Amino acid sequence: MNNKSKNKQPLILSNVQANPNTSFWRGYRQFWPFLKPYTFWAIVGLLLTIPVGALDAVVASFLKPFMDKVMVSQDKTFAYYVPLFIIGFSLAQGIFLYCSAYVNSYVGSRIAMDVKVKLYKKLTNMNTSFYDANNSGSVIYRFASDPDLATSGLITNIRLFLTKFFSSASLVVVLIYNSWQLSFVALGVLVLLFLPMQIVRKRVKQIVNRTVGANAKVMTIYNETSQGNREIKSFNLKGQMFKHFFNTMEYLFRLNMKIVRDTNWLAPVMHLITAFGVAGVLYFGLHLILIGDITSGGFVAFLAALIMLYTPIKSIGNNYINVQQALLALDRIYQLLQVPTYENEDEKDKEQLLNIKKDIVFDDVHFSYNQEREILKGISFKVKVGSKVALVGNSGGGKTTVCSLIPRLYEIDSGKILIDGKNVSSLNLESLRSQVAMVFQDNFLFEGSIRENLMYGRMDASKEDVENAIKSAYLDDFVYSLPDGLDTLIGERGLSLSGGQKQRLAIARAILKNAPLVILDEATSALDNKSEKVVQKALDKLMEGRTTIVIAHRLSTIMDADKILVINDGHIVEEGTHQVLLAQNGAYAVLYNSQFSKTHKNAETK
Ligand SMILES: Nc1ncnc2c1ncn2[C@@H]1O[C@H](COP(=O)(O)OP(=O)(O)O)[C@@H](O)[C@H]1O
Ligand SMILES: [Mg+2]
Repeated sequence: MNNKSKNKQPLILSNVQANPNTSFWRGYRQFWPFLKPYTFWAIVGLLLTIPVGALDAVVASFLKPFMDKVMVSQDKTFAYYVPLFIIGFSLAQGIFLYCSAYVNSYVGSRIAMDVKVKLYKKLTNMNTSFYDANNSGSVIYRFASDPDLATSGLITNIRLFLTKFFSSASLVVVLIYNSWQLSFVALGVLVLLFLPMQIVRKRVKQIVNRTVGANAKVMTIYNETSQGNREIKSFNLKGQMFKHFFNTMEYLFRLNMKIVRDTNWLAPVMHLITAFGVAGVLYFGLHLILIGDITSGGFVAFLAALIMLYTPIKSIGNNYINVQQALLALDRIYQLLQVPTYENEDEKDKEQLLNIKKDIVFDDVHFSYNQEREILKGISFKVKVGSKVALVGNSGGGKTTVCSLIPRLYEIDSGKILIDGKNVSSLNLESLRSQVAMVFQDNFLFEGSIRENLMYGRMDASKEDVENAIKSAYLDDFVYSLPDGLDTLIGERGLSLSGGQKQRLAIARAILKNAPLVILDEATSALDNKSEKVVQKALDKLMEGRTTIVIAHRLSTIMDADKILVINDGHIVEEGTHQVLLAQNGAYAVLYNSQFSKTHKNAETK
């Protein structure tokens, strides 16, 4: 099990950019898995666009008999029917239009939802390093906006495109039916459209990747302004933040104007090209009428069909830009979905960890967060089941890192981590994590009530279990003094908790989880002396009869540990009990004496 060869560079969202060689067909292939479940309705929607488009031609082709029979031959009865036919066909067209919009929106919205759901699932399966490396702004932007951009862009534009395509195809039939010579002129002009479209496609791609980065940055600024509002105020950073925001907006504005400048000439150019077509037709048409090759009715019908044909073609330019942007968004989504993560690797053949019976062993573990720096440089130790092991050492030495490797929050580079002799990477992840309860220095609480937050420890906990847990964490006095008790909302729309209350809530959550291995990472660091004593009692309850790994910032709390490991700079420099290490008069003794003299001094000054 050597992972050294693995690329350790975490995925950075801003590096995930659309492939510059986006092609419609690759986009289509990427889109197909999402479209597949709705093939039937997609085909229905597609079929419905055929009459919507084709009925344009019917209306146009009626102009010929109307002109020839009514205007030229003065046939009255026919004259009465034609307007009725035109209204009838338009009505039918309207009904088809409504149905096709409905069916296509159904398919489109479903697909948009599926893309988001799939992407969210991917987000929950990202490796921890992904969250370390990417700020929430770019996560929100990429996971929420790109699916909208991709699906709405593709679906709406494909529908418009298809309607226009069928309308154009049927109008072309009308053209050729009325005069193949004129059709030659009118359609020949369209070949000229390809060149500007190609140019625009390239321009869009060049700019869009930069726009995405800037948009993500804006999200980040909003997020930091809300999360860091205390720091912004107390460090007088309002002006700084404003400047940062303004510059980003200004940059985005310039990029947007650049897109407009570099692409929006497409519509007028298409307009001009079609004008050449109409001019050519008028010029040659006159000649054909004079030599009797085409009736005047035929000519009017031809012109009407031609103008109807050119109208969508002129606006196809904007459609085309939207489709390009959607394809680029789709490409970014596709790349995110392809990111390999070990979080969702195939768990079928993996062993379940149902209990810890023997021990946890680190065997020459090397670990780095990224290629630049090795953090753990060959860590080996053993935690016997039921014992209490304490990790101490300089800050930044790697204690937290050691703990996060046990529930496999990160993958190690080399060495082994064994639980009861089984390598953690061969264990079913969910079962592994179900055996570990962690309390951190800074604990995250979710939106919702106190009860809900506790129940995240164990979803099927009974009412009594919850009550016992808050009692064990010495939270009961506080919780029952609240008018809503356990149902008090915390977080965004509720009560704000103090650091100590948060930590005790996290401890209660860990107690409720009732896991055989407990990891406490400076779980009392946010507390003053008095509440620390209370929380320490809660922690002692949590540790009772369990295997525990404790990182303590106050050495007085770990003097009774079965084993103390001193970790400095990624090495275990000392190992033993409190008495033994103190007698050794090494790193631990230095640490202990510095703290002891500090507390001593504090006591004296009081
Ligand atoms: N998510 C991370 N990404 C990159 N480096 C990290 C990360 N977390 C910690 N480090 C680095 O790893 C080293 C050990 O950190 P840590 O295990 O938190 O130390 P301790 O808990 O002993 O204070 C530090 O130098 C820190 O800068
Ligand atoms: Mg730490």
